[in-house]
Amino acid sequence: MNAPLALLAELTHRCPLRCPYCSNPAVLARSSAELTTAEWADIFAQAAALGCLQTHLSGGEPTARRDIVEITAAAHQAGLYTNLITAGVLLDASLLKRLVAAGLDHVQLSIQDADAANAEKIGGMPGAHARKQQAAQLVREAGLPLTINAVVHRQNLHNLPAIIALARDWGAARLEVAHTQYYGWALANRDALLPTRAQLDEATRIVDAARGGAMRIDYVVPDYHAHRPKPCMGGWGARFLAVAPNGDVLPCHAAQSITGMVFPNIRKSSLHDAWHDSAAFNRFRGTAWMPPPCQGCERAEIDWGGCRCQAFALTGDAANTDPACALSPHHALLSDALAAAATNAFRYREFS
Ligand code: SF4
Ligand code: FES
Repeated sequence: MNAPLALLAELTHRCPLRCPYCSNPAVLARSSAELTTAEWADIFAQAAALGCLQTHLSGGEPTARRDIVEITAAAHQAGLYTNLITAGVLLDASLLKRLVAAGLDHVQLSIQDADAANAEKIGGMPGAHARKQQAAQLVREAGLPLTINAVVHRQNLHNLPAIIALARDWGAARLEVAHTQYYGWALANRDALLPTRAQLDEATRIVDAARGGAMRIDYVVPDYHAHRPKPCMGGWGARFLAVAPNGDVLPCHAAQSITGMVFPNIRKSSLHDAWHDSAAFNRFRGTAWMPPPCQGCERAEIDWGGCRCQAFALTGDAANTDPACALSPHHALLSDALAAAATNAFRYREFS
């Protein structure tokens, strides 16, 4: 078995933004359940020993943790490349300076749109867009590489050319244009977010035309117009490891949306045992678990039957073929959802 390539460290579910496309679970971990600084330091040491090379410090909003500098330092001292995945609204010059001194290597900044009013409507936080612009400038001035991440959907795709121009203006070395994935809280907003086929085709044309310059553009395509699924996480338990704010060790960031599955917790299990020996990680590894039509399919070791979280979200059984595959008996669920996507009203989270 390979070592995981990267550890996603979900430091908290707390976040000042309320994006309708959030892939975090519908029920969030309370702050009182969050792992301590020392527990995270131990996790980073275990991850490095397991063969991980990098960690993504994420959430929620990771800078909502008062100990984000100490956590970053612990990851750096463990020998991991550190990437901060942030909304940027809490990132001021003082904090960034301390993060750089702690060994921060890279910043990934999310935006909701290039149009400030629409961005703030989507994120549910007035004033956020200007703060993000300031954060991008600080990151650039600090000499750190910057990735901008834009989750796209029916209510911002009309601004995709402006989003690409904004990422160039703000000095991004890489832009990730990611169509919304519908699990966790995003599923509750699916009707307001699903793009039309015409929007998808136009977005793909715009991204293709914009590629080739100094800024790299990565493109995550949507499943609901697809005929074959994507190889989610490169296969369950194959390359990817996440630790949730409450210490649950997960094969993917959305795995807690699969209700009924029990995941190992870092307070009771080592990272090594969770990765190698736990029932949850072994449940969908390889191809032996696959139902027909995946069994014997020539793509079984290419897409690994698609996404387990999506299979659960749409069919109620994570062991089913991902309905994004046209060979799935549940494939019509996607066209039914597209036909039903008739509202523009968002449902926002309320944090207690
Ligand atoms: Fe992939 Fe399964 Fe569809 Fe084959 S049948 S393309 S393995 S999801
Ligand atoms: Fe969980 Fe695809 S998001 S397996």
